[in-house]
Amino acid sequence: MSVKPLRECGPAARIAVIAGDGIGKEVTPESVKAIRSAITSARRQIEFVEFDWGADKFLREGVSLPAGAVEMLANEFDAILFGALGDPRVPSNQHAADILLGLRFKLDLFVNARPVELFHDRLTPLRDRSANDIRFMVFRENTEGLYVGVGGFFKKDTPDEIAVQEDVNSRKGVERIIRHAFDYARRNQLKRVCMSDKSNAMNFAHDLWQRVFKQVLQEYPEIESRHLYVDTLAMEVVRDPRQFDVIVTCNLFGDIISDLGAQLAGGLGLAPSGNIHPGRTSLFEPVHGSAPNIAGKGIANPLGSILTSGMMLDFLGWKSEGDALRNAVRSALQENFVTPDLGGDKATVEVGDWIAKRVGDR
Ligand SMILES: NC(=O)c1ccc[n+]([C@@H]2O[C@H](COP(=O)([O-])OP(=O)(O)OC[C@H]3O[C@@H](n4cnc5c(N)ncnc54)[C@H](O)[C@@H]3O)[C@@H](O)[C@H]2O)c1
Repeated sequence: MSVKPLRECGPAARIAVIAGDGIGKEVTPESVKAIRSAITSARRQIEFVEFDWGADKFLREGVSLPAGAVEMLANEFDAILFGALGDPRVPSNQHAADILLGLRFKLDLFVNARPVELFHDRLTPLRDRSANDIRFMVFRENTEGLYVGVGGFFKKDTPDEIAVQEDVNSRKGVERIIRHAFDYARRNQLKRVCMSDKSNAMNFAHDLWQRVFKQVLQEYPEIESRHLYVDTLAMEVVRDPRQFDVIVTCNLFGDIISDLGAQLAGGLGLAPSGNIHPGRTSLFEPVHGSAPNIAGKGIANPLGSILTSGMMLDFLGWKSEGDALRNAVRSALQENFVTPDLGGDKATVEVGDWIAKRVGDR
């Protein structure tokens, strides 16, 4: 079956590169190198345009997300390759919130896609589990829920203080993420979709999730649909991850479950993610942050960013190039050509060069 790309960019694509802060500036160039290597051999065209948005610019000019940036990205680029944001000199993290949350919300990137795939048996903390046992996708709703910032304080800083944080769920928002999960399963010939909520306790917001799920699943009779409360899901993912192909859930639970999944597959240095709106400019970022504790030392693991680039190439419809990046990462792990966080002694640039060569040689 031919799989329709989420973004029809044809043979040429324009990519905005926002490396950001800390190790974002170290791993992102390695990703660009790997992509260039994959693209050259397949005769596609790709143009990278770099943007220096991050803590340095914010401290120097007071600018986080420049005026007109969202429209420019939406109109002129197919995708955004993002590093990480966060700098100890900006304790409020204001620039990161403006840029990352700004782009997620203003570009309406409602799908947070977090693949969990174990590339080498030694990387999982689970006993007796091998690479074939841990392979599933988590779709987290990315624009609603408890993270929209609706709420307030009453009697702040007094002993009687009350803080309210609203959980915002629209029918449209719930439906489109659940539908995306089923469509993904269908496109990739996966058999099982599990929706997770806490409808036994959150009897308004997650009642809506229940009703929408039951309605949407009727349209996908070939897919086995299942529901788990999120506490049960957390236990089951650890007990036997083989049960899952696709998991779909709300913003808060998706945040937590996808981090749990990342840890099962080797941890932060290897975890990729995509913030996606099918058909529109979407943003791809490794799950890790700017890691100020190792920034500037040249030892950050670039593999999470390179796997993220693989997701971005899939999104553009360039699946064989995406596979080339994933295969090269798998080989680096097999040959233990890795950075210190994975037990190796290689530098960021050495790993990046190795991957680019392996991709180019294919
Ligand atoms: N999407 C983002 O941009 C994002 C995500 C998470 C955290 N942050 C920000 O990053 C800063 C640091 O946050 P944190 O320390 O909680 O999380 P972090 O992911 O930056 O680091 C956590 C730990 O993992 C290690 N680590 C992370 N990525 C690694 C890599 N590629 N290679 C080797 N080791 C790696 C770090 O050295 C650190 O010990 C904060 O300012 C935070 O707000 C940004």
